[in-house]
Amino acid sequence: MGIRLDNLCRAVRDMQYAVRGPIVARAQELERQGRQVIYCNIGNPQALAQRPLTWVRQVLALAEYPEVLERAPGAFPADAVEAARTIARESGSGLGAYTESKGFLFVRQAVARFIQERDGIPSDPEAIYLTDGASKAAQAVLRLLIAGEKDGILIPVPQYPLYSATLTLFGGAPIPYQTDERADWGLSRQALEEAVAGAAARGVKARAIVVINPGNPTGAVLSEKDVGMVLDFARQHDLAILADEVYQENVWRAGDRFVSFAGAQARRGDREVALFSFHSTSKGFLGECGHRGGYVECRNVPADVLEELTKHQSVALCSNSVGQIVTYLMVRPPRAGEPSFAVYDRERREIQDSLRRRAAIVERGLNAVEGIRCNPVAGAMYAFPRIQLPPGVTDGQWCLALLEETGICVVPGSGFGQADGTWHFRTTILPPLDQIETVVGRIAEFHRKFLSRPQK
Ligand SMILES: Cc1ncc(COP(=O)(O)O)c(C=O)c1O
Repeated sequence: MGIRLDNLCRAVRDMQYAVRGPIVARAQELERQGRQVIYCNIGNPQALAQRPLTWVRQVLALAEYPEVLERAPGAFPADAVEAARTIARESGSGLGAYTESKGFLFVRQAVARFIQERDGIPSDPEAIYLTDGASKAAQAVLRLLIAGEKDGILIPVPQYPLYSATLTLFGGAPIPYQTDERADWGLSRQALEEAVAGAAARGVKARAIVVINPGNPTGAVLSEKDVGMVLDFARQHDLAILADEVYQENVWRAGDRFVSFAGAQARRGDREVALFSFHSTSKGFLGECGHRGGYVECRNVPADVLEELTKHQSVALCSNSVGQIVTYLMVRPPRAGEPSFAVYDRERREIQDSLRRRAAIVERGLNAVEGIRCNPVAGAMYAFPRIQLPPGVTDGQWCLALLEETGICVVPGSGFGQADGTWHFRTTILPPLDQIETVVGRIAEFHRKFLSRPQK
C-alpha cells in the first residue's frame, strides 16, 4: 500500500507549529516572486542582521581548523587561542568525533560553574545534558514524563508551541493554564489550581508544569514571589518543573531581573521538587540559533531516572559537537583583564542596548495605534499585542492580509493559545534599529486601513 498521508503517524499529522506555519510558507512564496519580506515570525536574530560575537566565531574557527593559526599567526587574541587549545585537549579526538551522550564533560563542568556563579549554588555536571538547542532538551524530558495519554503537562496560555506540538507528538495531555493579560501576563495560583482541577475532572493526572521565564510570546518576567509560588504549587501537587529559561539574558524593563528556578529553589531550602532547567545559545546576545547549542540541568531527579535520560540521549549518540562548543563559549566568556574582554563586552552591550531600545519602540509604537494594545515587553524578544478585529475576522486572516499588503510576516495569536474571544499577533523585536520604526509604522497604518475597510 506504500507510504501515503493517510497511513502516516496520526500524531505527526496532528502536530501544529505556527511559528513556521502557513503564513510563513506564504511569505516564502512571496519572496520567491521577488517581494521583500521582513520576517518577524521567529526569534532568529542573525537572520535579521545581528552579528555574531567575535569571541564565539574566533574560537570556533580555531577549534574547527587549528591550522589557521600557522597561516595567520598573531591574527587571534591569546585567550581565543588558549580556549581553542583547551577545546582540543579536552575533547580528545576533536570536533569530528561523537562525544559522550551527555556531551563533553569539560563543557558540562563549565555549565556547572556558570550556574554556581549565577545562583551561588553547587551544580552537578553529571546532571547536565548538552543538547541540540533547548528544544531537544525539553523534548527529551517530556518524552520521559509522558507515559500515557492521561499524563498531563501544564502549559501556559499563551505558550511557545514547542510544548503543545511535542505533547501532541508524544500523546500526552496538555493542561493549559491561563496567564492574565490584564496583569501584564502574570501568573496566579488560582489559574494553576483551576487547571489541575479541570484536568483531574477529565481523568488527567498532572505530571509537570512548564514555565517560560522570561516569557515567549508574552515577554513577562517572573519575580522571586512568582517563582516561589510555582515551586510551592509543584510541591503540593507532586509535579516536576520544566523551567524554560532561554531568555535569561533578555530582560529589558528597568527594575525587573531574571530569577532562576534553581536559585529560588535553593533559597527556599526545597530539595524535593524535580526541576529541569533549560538554556540555549540561540537567544540572549549570542543569537547562535543555527549552531543548535543548549542544555538541561536536572535537580532532585533520582539517579535511575537520570540513567534513563542518558539512555534516551544515547540513542541519538550525542548532540552536535559544535553546538556544545558554542555552549562552552556562552558559559565561559572572556573575563575582565583577558585580551578578548574589551571587544566581547562592547559587542554584548551594543546588542543588549539595541534590543532594549527596539523593545521600547515596538511597545510604544503599537500602543499608539487605535485597536491595538500591547503589554510591556519586559523581557524576551517578542511583543504579543491584542488586536480588535471586526466581527467574523480571525487573527490568521489579519496576519495574512498584513503579509500580503506590507511584506511583514508575523504569527497569529491562535498559534500560541489565547483567551476565547480575544485576538493577538506575535512579532519579534528583532528587525534592526533602522527598520523597526518602519515595521511598526507599517503595522499601524495597515491596521487603521484594515479597520476602516468594509469586511466581506
Ligand atoms: C521559550 C523557548 N524555548 C525554547 C526555544 C528553542 O530554542 P533552541 O533554539 O535552543 O532550540 C525557543 C525558541 O524560540 C523559545 O522561544
